Amino acid sequence: MIVLGINAYHGDAAAAITHDGLLVAAAEEERFNRRKHCAGFPAEAIRYCLQTAGISIGEVDHIGISRDPSAHLHKKILFAATRAAKSLTAFDRAKAPVTASKSRGIFDAVAERLANTAKVRDLRDELAKQLNVAKTALRAEFHNIEHHRAHLASSFYVSPFERAALLSIDGFGDFISTMWGVGDGNSIDVLGQVEYPHSTGIVYTATTQFLGFPHYGDEGKVMGLAPYGKPRFMAELRELIRTEEDGQFKLNLDYFRHHAEGVDMTWDDGSPVIGRIFSDEYSKLFGPPREQGAPLTEREHDIAASLQLRLEEVGFHLLNHLYEATGLTDLGLAGGVAYNSVMNGKILLNTPFRRVYVQPAAGDSGTAIGVCYQIYNGKLNRARNEVMEGAYTGPEFSDAEMRAELEQSGLQYETYSDREVTRRAAHDIAEGLVMGWFQGRMEFGPRALGNRSIVVDPRRADMKDTLNERIKKREPFRPFAPSILEECVGDYFEQTHPAPTMLMVYQIKPERRAEIPAVTHVDGSGRLQTVSRQVNPRYYQLISDFRELTGVPVVLNTSFNENEPIVCTPRHAIDCFLKTRMDVLYLGNHAVRRK
Ligand SMILES: [Fe+2]
Repeated sequence: MIVLGINAYHGDAAAAITHDGLLVAAAEEERFNRRKHCAGFPAEAIRYCLQTAGISIGEVDHIGISRDPSAHLHKKILFAATRAAKSLTAFDRAKAPVTASKSRGIFDAVAERLANTAKVRDLRDELAKQLNVAKTALRAEFHNIEHHRAHLASSFYVSPFERAALLSIDGFGDFISTMWGVGDGNSIDVLGQVEYPHSTGIVYTATTQFLGFPHYGDEGKVMGLAPYGKPRFMAELRELIRTEEDGQFKLNLDYFRHHAEGVDMTWDDGSPVIGRIFSDEYSKLFGPPREQGAPLTEREHDIAASLQLRLEEVGFHLLNHLYEATGLTDLGLAGGVAYNSVMNGKILLNTPFRRVYVQPAAGDSGTAIGVCYQIYNGKLNRARNEVMEGAYTGPEFSDAEMRAELEQSGLQYETYSDREVTRRAAHDIAEGLVMGWFQGRMEFGPRALGNRSIVVDPRRADMKDTLNERIKKREPFRPFAPSILEECVGDYFEQTHPAPTMLMVYQIKPERRAEIPAVTHVDGSGRLQTVSRQVNPRYYQLISDFRELTGVPVVLNTSFNENEPIVCTPRHAIDCFLKTRMDVLYLGNHAVRRK
C-alpha cells in the first residue's frame, strides 16, 4: 500500500511517501526550487517521492495533506465574528481613514484565508494540474489530517516507543498552537490543546522580530544569542505569557497584533513572509525595537536570555503536566518549537521523562511524514514497522552521475577507494582544510547530518571565523555544532541521551571545552549530533579516522550551503564549492581540491 503525505501552503512545503508502512522518501520543496522555507505546493518534492518509489501518481492508494479546513470550524467562525465585530466598533468610534484601511485589511485577510482553504479542498485538482495528469487518473482516497495530529503522528508512529506521551508545540496550524496526548500502539488520544491566539511559537517569533531578526526561521538566531545575556526581564516575559492550570498557558494579548489587527502572512511559492506580530505595547516593556542590522547591545542579549528561559519554563510546565496526566516516561516531540534544541536538551533535567524522540523534521515539513502514518497506522490500523532513526530520506546520486557533473565542470579530481576516502578526508580536516562532504541521501529537516555537510576541525578556535569569512557569512554570535561518535558522548558531554538529528543541546564537560573550542558555545554548551555506525556508516568512519589521527572523536559539522537552502544535487555542491572559498570538495569517492 502506497501513501503520499503532503505539507502545502505552509512554510517548508514537503512531501513524503511510504510503501507498506516503510518510509521510502521525504524531502522539502526548497531543496529543489532553491527558495528557502518555500511554502506553496511541493510539486518537485512529490515528483521526487514518486520517482524514488518507482510509481506514478495513479498508483498511489492514499493521499493526505496536513490541514483540515473543517477542524475546529466552530472556533474559527466564532473568533472571526468576534474580531470583525470589534473592528467595526473601532471603525465607528474613530471614523478615521487609517481605521478604514485596517478594516479592509481584515476582510482581505479573511478572503485570503478562504482562498487558501479552497486550495486545500481542491488538492485533487491541484495535484493533477501540477503533475500534468488527468484528474480521473488519480484513484487514491484523499484525506485531510488536522495539523497537530499530523505533528503528533510524526513524533510517535516512527518513534521506537510502543506507548509514549506526545507533545506538538508550534506557532499555529488549524487554529491550534499546542496539542498533547498519548500514543499507544496504533492510536493517539488527544488529552489537551491550546487554541489561537495563544502560542509559545508566536511569543518567540514576535520577540525575534522585536530583536531585529525579521525573517522566517530566524528564531534559531535568538536561541544562539540567549547565552550571551542575563535573564533580567523575567517579570516582563511572565507578563507576556502566563501559565495556567492543566498545562495551559495564555498570552497577554495587549502585546500582540495577530489576534486583533491580523498580521500579513505570505504563503505563496516563495519564502514565507510574516508581518510584525508584536504591538506597540512591547516598547513599554523593553524600549524601542532594535532595527535590523543595528549593533546588538546588552539589552538584546538579556531579552533573548529571558525569552529562552521563559520558553523553557512554559515548556516544562506543559511537560510536567503531560507526565502527570499519562504517567509515561517516554516522550515524542514535534512542532516548530521542538526545534528549540536548548529546551529539548534540558527536558531530562527538568521533567520525569527518561527517553525523548524528537521528529527530525519537527517543523511543518515533518507533517508530511505524520500524514502518511496517521493514515497508515491511525486510520487504516496497519501494523507499525518503521523507526526513523536518522533523516536520510532525500535524493542520492550514482557514481556515474557525480563523475558526469565533475567532467562537465572541467574540474580535476582524484578518486579513492571506499576505505581510503574517509582517511584522506580526515587527514584534510586535521590539516585545517574547509571540506565539503557530499555523500548518500540528502537529509530531511533543517539539519545537515553528515551527508550534505561542511566538515572542519573542531580543535581550531579560529575555525568559526574562517567558516564565517569564507562561506557562511553568519552572525558571529551563532555557534557551530559538533558531531561525535555515539560511544564517546559521555567523555565529552554532561548528558548521554542520544541526539542523532542534532536536536539536543548539552553542556560540554568543563575539562573538555578547550579541546574543541570551535564547537563550544559561550556558555559551554554544544548542539551535538551523536553518530552511530548503524545509522550513517560513512560519516561514522570519517569521524573514527579523524579520531585515529588526532585522538578527538569529534568534528565540526555545518550545513553545506552558503546562504541558500542546503545543497541537494552534485551540481549544487560544485556551484557552492566554486563560489565560496572551500578548500576541498568530496563528492562520493571523488575529491576536488582548490588550486
Ligand atoms: Fe506546525
